[in-house]
Amino acid sequence: MTQIPAATRRLTIDAIRAMKGGAEPIVMVTAYDFSTAQVAERAGVDLILVGDSAAMVVLGYETTRLVTIEEMLMLTRAVRRGAPSSLVIGDLPYQSYESSNALAIATAQRFADAGCDAVKMEGAGATVERARAVIAAGIPVMGHVGLTPQQTGDPEGFRVHGKTASAALEIIAAARQLDAAGCFSIVAEAMPAAVGRVLTPCVSVPVIGIGAGVDTDGQVLVFHDLVGLYDAHVPRYVKRYAELKASMIDAVETSRRSVSVTGT
Ligand code: KIV
Repeated sequence: MTQIPAATRRLTIDAIRAMKGGAEPIVMVTAYDFSTAQVAERAGVDLILVGDSAAMVVLGYETTRLVTIEEMLMLTRAVRRGAPSSLVIGDLPYQSYESSNALAIATAQRFADAGCDAVKMEGAGATVERARAVIAAGIPVMGHVGLTPQQTGDPEGFRVHGKTASAALEIIAAARQLDAAGCFSIVAEAMPAAVGRVLTPCVSVPVIGIGAGVDTDGQVLVFHDLVGLYDAHVPRYVKRYAELKASMIDAVETSRRSVSVTGT
């Protein structure tokens, strides 16, 4: 029987910043409820993201755009109960922060009240100003460049970004703006490894990649992808470490058969 170690630490935002360029890569994983948060914390990851990928992998929506603030807050509270010692980041859902600084601050505050240590926002453009305002209000912000699913909408449109020189330079410029606005780290999603490699030293804060090669300051994976619980729209760069859906179906089938045989 595997020993389950008790989690002992909650890393600070400053500790994450200090991991920039260090020997130890930052490991972030998503979690969406009490149990997945417990798993992530006990596995010793550095950061837990309550990602709006919950829309697709937990709630079964077609896109991340459809998850509501209330749904995300319910999941966030459950994650905090499951991971009391982890640095938890809440992903602000689509249209919950873009239109004004006041809206961004109010929404970020609701996530902080639900137990988040920081929030994540997608994209640059107007988001840079929103991030600056939320940080000034005292809530740390993680940026997100490259593929930003809220902007893309339909998962059929999920593709690698930054394939041309000008597109790569746009990603780097966006990351620099988020860095200058005070973000404590930046997710870089779905770009050629060379872009991840060039982008990472261009900003002063950790770059946490997903499908951005191995030369970033850290990596993030969606929980259900890494354990094999979700089988629609799984990006090619996802590495699976288990096939839990198959095991779960097996377990439930075995139980069903045993009930049919014994009647109990
Ligand atoms: O919502 C999410 O899970 C994310 C990660 C892929 C970074 O934004």
